[in-house]
Amino acid sequence: MQPLTMKDFTIRTEKSADYPAVESLVYQAFLIAEQRDGTEQDLVRRLRQSTAFIPELSLVAEHDGSLVGYILLTEVTINGHKALALAPLAVAPAYQRQGIGTALIKRSHLIAQKLGYPCIIVLGSDTYYPRLGYQPAAKYGIKAPFEVPSKYYQVYPLVRNLTEISGTVAYAPEFDLN
Ligand SMILES: CC(C)(COP(=O)(O)OP(=O)(O)OC[C@H]1O[C@@H](n2cnc3c(N)ncnc32)[C@H](O)[C@@H]1OP(=O)(O)O)[C@@H](O)C(=O)NCCC(=O)NCCS
Repeated sequence: MQPLTMKDFTIRTEKSADYPAVESLVYQAFLIAEQRDGTEQDLVRRLRQSTAFIPELSLVAEHDGSLVGYILLTEVTINGHKALALAPLAVAPAYQRQGIGTALIKRSHLIAQKLGYPCIIVLGSDTYYPRLGYQPAAKYGIKAPFEVPSKYYQVYPLVRNLTEISGTVAYAPEFDLN
């Protein structure tokens, strides 16, 4: 298969008709992921019903009429300030390493900034996300509500004064963290 370029795929907001394909894509992508629990597609289903869900930040990448990538950012709070958490990000196995994940993240950053959020939190790879500007959240005094090595708990600042927002991240109950 020829590698894709940006002009070969489009990024758009998820529609309800996409739900089954998105859930299948998330399941397939995480089957081969290093960190997985096999229920990432259920998390997406729960988060769509949550008050933390922001339709503009549930994005799909489409190629030739098929869904090849998905990203979801939902609302969290940090010390009373609204912010975002990125979870999950998934690219169909046959389409990985062609820039789709990167393009989804960059598009989500633009939308999050337009919506006025100060930052995006992610629990994820300490090699993948730093290339996209993510830094250890601890640097800003932002903490996870669970035990995690600090290099994996990262933040993408969308404002200059992020240090004013420090504290422990509170996730939507749909994350089932308790
Ligand atoms: C992680 C994932 C979303 C990346 O999407 P992608 O479209 O393949 O990534 P991109 O093409 O934008 O970036 C590719 C680069 O990222 C790096 N990369 C890809 N997957 C990676 C991973 N799981 N961990 C660390 N680095 C990774 C590679 O170095 C690659 O660069 P290279 O080809 O020059 O070596 C995708 O591999 C995926 O869906 N994985 C399974 C689900 C998952 O683990 N999601 C992330 C949860 S934090």
